[in-house]
Amino acid sequence: MVVMQILHMNKGNGETSYAKNSIVQSNIISLGRRAVDEALKKLMLSNSDISSLGIADLGCSSGPNSLLSISNIVDTIQNVCLDLDRPVPELKVSLNDLPSNDFNYIFASLPEFYDRLKKRDDNNNDCLGFDRRGEGPCFISAVPGSFYGRLFPRQSLHFVHSSSSLHWLSQVPCGEVSKEDGVIITADLDNKGKIYLSKTSPKSVHKAYALQFQSDFLVFLRSRSEEVVPGGRMVLSLLGRSSLDPTTEESCYQWELLAQALMSMANEGIIEEEKIDAFNAPYYAASSEELKMVIEKEGSFLIDRLEVSPVNWEGGSVTEENYDILRSKPEALASGRRVAKTIRAVIEPMLEPTFGHNVMDELFERYAKIVGEYSYVSSPRYAIVNISLVKMG
Ligand SMILES: C[S@@+](CC[C@H](N)C(=O)[O-])C[C@H]1O[C@@H](n2cnc3c(N)ncnc32)[C@H](O)[C@@H]1O
Repeated sequence: MVVMQILHMNKGNGETSYAKNSIVQSNIISLGRRAVDEALKKLMLSNSDISSLGIADLGCSSGPNSLLSISNIVDTIQNVCLDLDRPVPELKVSLNDLPSNDFNYIFASLPEFYDRLKKRDDNNNDCLGFDRRGEGPCFISAVPGSFYGRLFPRQSLHFVHSSSSLHWLSQVPCGEVSKEDGVIITADLDNKGKIYLSKTSPKSVHKAYALQFQSDFLVFLRSRSEEVVPGGRMVLSLLGRSSLDPTTEESCYQWELLAQALMSMANEGIIEEEKIDAFNAPYYAASSEELKMVIEKEGSFLIDRLEVSPVNWEGGSVTEENYDILRSKPEALASGRRVAKTIRAVIEPMLEPTFGHNVMDELFERYAKIVGEYSYVSSPRYAIVNISLVKMG
């Protein structure tokens, strides 16, 4: 499976599109807002006469969230400048995602986005330094490519943001690696009936996933360390876990239940079981300890803040009231349908090449039911890891 080709969210703005089903990720952006605001304030305070800022959002996808992060960032910079009585620097904003991302969707919404920025400026009596002759001091461009590698010129970025993206690996981890006559041979993971880490996955599968994440995250940090100026900042939010065990509910149950849905179809002869055995998601929910370990190993960034926060599977807060609603069966099943839609928008393009387009409706109907039944008896949640980093001088 070539991750670069199949890792993209459902395109356009139809019923199953990411644009229409990204409320969980939008809530994760809101959850990270405090860290973003704090990092930007510190950045502006330590760069008193800066006239231009390089900003990148990595894994921007397509849909309302792509510009939501940028809107928040612009807003905060403008407010900080207003507080400090300073002109707003020009903002060179780069939106990055893999080449298969639906960038056209974002381009089409740019005129409206620029209009909103201008209106906001007008409401502030034009005091924020917008250039009335041009598009304003926010210049947005797209940079297609993998963030597991260099994307930007050396020392061109002051602030890097990434939300709900870094849990995607650069490739599906490989199984046993051996050398024959100097040629490296890799084997598929032996992960029968599962599509991600599970309590029944062999130790070798656990090891392969952890090593793949560590190697990817190291490359990510090395690449950014070239691109970010000393004193520059990064705020990264990703799905992770709060415990060392990668098979707890918050770490992997969305995959566990999807494997159940696939297996139920295999048992009825609708899909082949061997295909489930062979499929493994290019995903990893890292613990804070693993993240810290790689950040220290790479050595260019200091951790300013690291928090792990739970959100429920619909992206809401983890409160008794929110889970009490699910103790009603119809509510739990309705929630299951909403959760299945948000997950479908993200992983359908990954599943289609293996299992076929024609079984997707059936698969996600079964999945919705399984998730609903599970939510009725449990209180499922994700763990969101939010890290704020500063580049050392
Ligand atoms: C769930 S979406 C999150 C999008 C957006 N940041 C949000 O919060 O809604 C994850 C995005 O990360 C992108 N992505 C995954 N791996 C990537 C990589 N190696 N390089 C660039 N983008 C990547 C995917 O294509 C996808 O658009």
